[in-house]
Amino acid sequence: MTTITAHQFDHLRDLVLKESAIVLEPGKEYLVESRLAPIARREGLASVADLVQKLITTPSAKMKNEVIDAMTTNETSFFRDVHPWQTLKDEIIPKLVEARSSERRLTIWCAAASSGQEPYSLAMSLRDNFPDVVRSWDVKIIATDLSESMLYRCREGIYSQLEVNRGLPAPMLIRNFQREGADWRIDHELRRMVDVRPCNLDAPATYPRAAAKFDLVFIRNVLIYFDDATKARILNETASRMRPDGYLLLGSSEVSISSGTRLSRHQFGRTIYFIPT
Ligand SMILES: C[S@@+](CC[C@H](N)C(=O)[O-])C[C@H]1O[C@@H](n2cnc3c(N)ncnc32)[C@H](O)[C@@H]1O
Repeated sequence: MTTITAHQFDHLRDLVLKESAIVLEPGKEYLVESRLAPIARREGLASVADLVQKLITTPSAKMKNEVIDAMTTNETSFFRDVHPWQTLKDEIIPKLVEARSSERRLTIWCAAASSGQEPYSLAMSLRDNFPDVVRSWDVKIIATDLSESMLYRCREGIYSQLEVNRGLPAPMLIRNFQREGADWRIDHELRRMVDVRPCNLDAPATYPRAAAKFDLVFIRNVLIYFDDATKARILNETASRMRPDGYLLLGSSEVSISSGTRLSRHQFGRTIYFIPT
C-alpha cells in the first residue's frame, strides 16, 4: 500500500529527474515506498509520505542525497553477460594494444560502475590476459558512479559470498581475492588499478578528467533509466571524450539507442560495440 500523495510523488519525480536524470514513470509509487522506507525509519518518521513532505518543506542536502542514492538501481555482477568480456579479450584489447604500442598507455572509463564488479572484472581480465601490458604500460581504469554508497563500496572492494558467487569462477576468486571474515576483498594490485570518482552522467562538468582521451568506455545498464534526449546527449558527450579509434560498450538491452549520435555500430560475435564517427 502506498502512503505518498500524487503531489508528493510529482515532487519526488521532479527532484530525481533533476539530480540524476532517472525517469520515475507514473505507477512507480510502490518502488518509491520500498526504496525510501528505510530512510524514513532511520529519520524516525512514521511513513514515506512524512519523509517526502519533509523533503518538500525543509529539505537538507544530506536527506536529498540519501533519497537520490536510494532511487538508483545498483544491480550488477562480475563478468556480466559473459560475451562482452570474451570480445574484450579476443578483439578489443588486442586491437588497442597494437594501436597504442608506441604510447604504451591505456585510459579506460567505466561509468555507472555501481559497487565495482565491472571495473574489477576488467582489471582481472587485463592482468590475466595481458600481464605485460599491466606490468609495464600506464593502464588507468577510472570507475565512476552517481551514488555515494556505491562509490564507497567500489573503493572498499569487499564482496559477500553471494556476490562473488555471481559470475566469478572459483579459481579467479582464489587468485584475485583474500578472505575478510565472511567476505572477500579484492587484492591490492587490482584495487590500485581502479581510480574511483563521483560523476553524474547528466552533468558533463563532472565527467572524469584524464591525461588522455578514453581508449575504452563502459556505459552499461544505466541509459535505460533516462529519456531519449538524455541518452543521446550522454552518448555524444562521451564520444567527444574518446579517441577516434576508441571503443564504447553499452548494456545488452541498450545497443539500439545510438542512432542519431556520433557513434558507429559494429559487431564481433554476439557483442555490439561503438566507435566515434
Ligand atoms: C544497474 S547499475 C549498472 C552497473 C554496471 N554498469 C553493470 O552493468 O553491471 C546502474 C548504475 O548507474 C548509476 N547511475 C544512475 N544514474 C546515474 C547518473 N545520472 N550518473 C551516473 N551514474 C548513475 C547507479 O547509481 C547504478 O550504480
